[in-house]
Amino acid sequence: KWPEKVTIKEVGPRDGLQNEKKIIPSETKIGWIDSLSETGLSYIEVTSFVNPKWIPQLADSLKVAEGIHRKPGVTYAALVPNLKGLEGALHAKMDEIAVFMSASEGHNRKNINKSIHDTYPVLQETVNLALQEGKKVRGYLSTVFGCPYEGKVPAAQVLSICERLFEMGIEELSLGDTIGIANPRQVEEILEQCLKTFKGARFALHFHDTRGMALANILKALEMGFDTFDSALGGLGGCPYAPGASGNVATDDLVHMLEKMGIDTGINQDKLLDAGYFLQQKMQSKLPSHQMAVYNAA
Ligand code: HMG
Ligand code: MG
Repeated sequence: KWPEKVTIKEVGPRDGLQNEKKIIPSETKIGWIDSLSETGLSYIEVTSFVNPKWIPQLADSLKVAEGIHRKPGVTYAALVPNLKGLEGALHAKMDEIAVFMSASEGHNRKNINKSIHDTYPVLQETVNLALQEGKKVRGYLSTVFGCPYEGKVPAAQVLSICERLFEMGIEELSLGDTIGIANPRQVEEILEQCLKTFKGARFALHFHDTRGMALANILKALEMGFDTFDSALGGLGGCPYAPGASGNVATDDLVHMLEKMGIDTGINQDKLLDAGYFLQQKMQSKLPSHQMAVYNAA
């Protein structure tokens, strides 16, 4: 019942770093991304091209995107909210872009300063130009399992926004548990509806581990046949416009679980931990994942 192979999309350099208060030098980010490129990861979200007043940590997106060594076979992606962000990503020659919005009105407004209704045309023109430029486009839908401002988000609303995003021409849609509030039963209920409504569509799951539930939720999704997950090395991360949201599920913990289960990730665990160690040394603080704790104790 388990997939043989799973694709892990590393979002640490974007989702992980965007919440860090202390500004990290671009050289450190570049060195870290280069070490991630050596681990066997096939996809790295390198940065975002958003308003630097909103996300000061990623104000150096162009410098980082242009500074990294691009390993053949690895897809280097960036998050963009609109045409201006896309221009930046195109200028930086990103392989792929990701657009984003929320399933709840409250989080959408806090995060991108617009109603859900007003977000659609902005994303549509962005996706159109990206496709015209020959880029693949990924979509993120945040607060699928709960919103920090509104609480429960109706499944019907999630499904109707998914539909709009797929209609725009998005290749893969990553469903986000932005505040780490999901549980496996809820994951099963929502994903069943997604499978039924969007036959053959490509979904990824994006769990934050705020309440320690991310691996349990991933296990449920795996059982249901989902095979693409977002994670951040060491468990870094969070959305600055979701109070209390902590890191993504840790790539190293996820790879450990999957490889122990005999599911192929294509990722070398030792090299992953070396990349974690590199960042720890540069940031002079410990990463919060379980695997890094074991590594640090050894
Ligand atoms: P706004 O203020 O409404 O934008 O922000 P605007 O169009 O009215 O423009 C205002 C100013 O922003 C102008 O500059 C624009 O040029 C500038 P000014 O004339 O005042 O000097 N601007 C930009 N600058 C750089 N890059 C751009 C850009 N666009 C406009 N792309 C906007 C709207 C979306 C830009 C803003 O709200 C923003 O940048 N938000 C970013 C929020 C963010 O990055 N959040 C974290 C990522 S999402 C996330 O973490 C969730 C996820 O991980 C999944 C999950 O966990 O659920 C993906
Ligand atoms: Mg996130």
